[in-house]
Amino acid sequence: MANPSAESNADSPRVPDERGRRKARDAQPSSHGVRRNLKPGDEVLRVTGLHVEFGVDKAWVPAAIDLNYEVRAGEVLALVGESGSGKSVSSMSLLGLLPKNARVSGSVMLNGREVLGASDSVVRSIRGREVAVIFQEPMTAMNPVYTIGQQIIETVRLHNPVSPAQAAERALEMLKLVELPDPERAFMSYPHQLSGGQRQRAMIAQSLSCDPELLIADEPTTALDVTVQAEILDLIRNLRTKLNSAIILITHDMGVVADLSDRIAVMRHGRIVETGDARQIFSNPRHPYTQELLAAVPHLGHGSADAAEVDLTVALAQATNKEDLVPMSGAEIRAKEAENAAELSRAQIKARRAAEEASSRSLKTSHDTGPGGKWGKPHHQRW
Ligand SMILES: Nc1ncnc2c1ncn2[C@@H]1O[C@H](COP(=O)(O)OP(=O)(O)O)[C@@H](O)[C@H]1O
Ligand SMILES: [Mg+2]
Repeated sequence: MANPSAESNADSPRVPDERGRRKARDAQPSSHGVRRNLKPGDEVLRVTGLHVEFGVDKAWVPAAIDLNYEVRAGEVLALVGESGSGKSVSSMSLLGLLPKNARVSGSVMLNGREVLGASDSVVRSIRGREVAVIFQEPMTAMNPVYTIGQQIIETVRLHNPVSPAQAAERALEMLKLVELPDPERAFMSYPHQLSGGQRQRAMIAQSLSCDPELLIADEPTTALDVTVQAEILDLIRNLRTKLNSAIILITHDMGVVADLSDRIAVMRHGRIVETGDARQIFSNPRHPYTQELLAAVPHLGHGSADAAEVDLTVALAQATNKEDLVPMSGAEIRAKEAENAAELSRAQIKARRAAEEASSRSLKTSHDTGPGGKWGKPHHQRW
């Protein structure tokens, strides 16, 4: 999400005219992009031994511990788990979008290339071209002083050698693809002029404007009302099918997981405590925490007026079909979980002590204990 340059402002993008424009609903990956031709099942991302920790008052506090997973083209991997379990932090670390007090180790292979430790310029070119992120709060992810059209144009031009007119056409195409009711108007609007749901769609349009091979959607529907939520999820499903992108869907909503995911990784206290295909996890959750999460599912999915929406009951019935189960070791998972809990509480106690010592030494008023100050730089770039 780059700051639109003075140059592109001078281009003052206009809504491209109707003639010769492709129907956005039938949109295929853009010919201006440099996107690989992915086939379903191609490995897009492989994460091995990923560790993320934060330096807090001279102690390293783990936020993600020994994560291992892969995501393939045309596949949705759901990362689920309670708030604070490390879903956002681990996913943002894939793109180097972490505060300065973070330390990351392990391996992140994107299309066969190592991303961890790559230079800033390489990571920047990956962001937005090969990998896109949909943030939880679209207002903070969009620049309030530029129109939606300008921002998407900038994203397109940052990565593709296209003319302003071609970029504008592409931007409008994306706004149509996300099914905004009036894409031309949205194109000319500033973020605050759109509703929350429309802003979310506009951000998704921006995120997808370079046909990313990997999409990371972090709680994409949390802030939206139920009808819009269903539409956005439908959109993500369609984009996976149309563009064959690999998708990491971060959510604490098991109803959404049942609806959309092919595979699931359950996170708790920084670790993946259980992983498997959706059917396996729903039919035979091994970890008590997964069982707890699943207990909430029957309450979800009611009140849907839209017949086209995937019926959660059907999704769950399919998911609980007992075929194709792969045996997993519950004992091993429990041992890991205990080890993790111990490690985490040791680190937390240490951090708390250090913080107490530091505050008793200093009588200075704390001016940055709110979430913003404490976390330092936010996970995403700001202007
Ligand atoms: N800048 C930071 N400094 C210290 N700890 C952090 C920072 N950012 C996040 N954390 C901690 O990392 C852990 C994981 O957070 P996060 O990935 O945001 O959880 P979630 O699963 O809800 O997305 C939490 O315990 C959080 O407090
Ligand atoms: Mg999060």
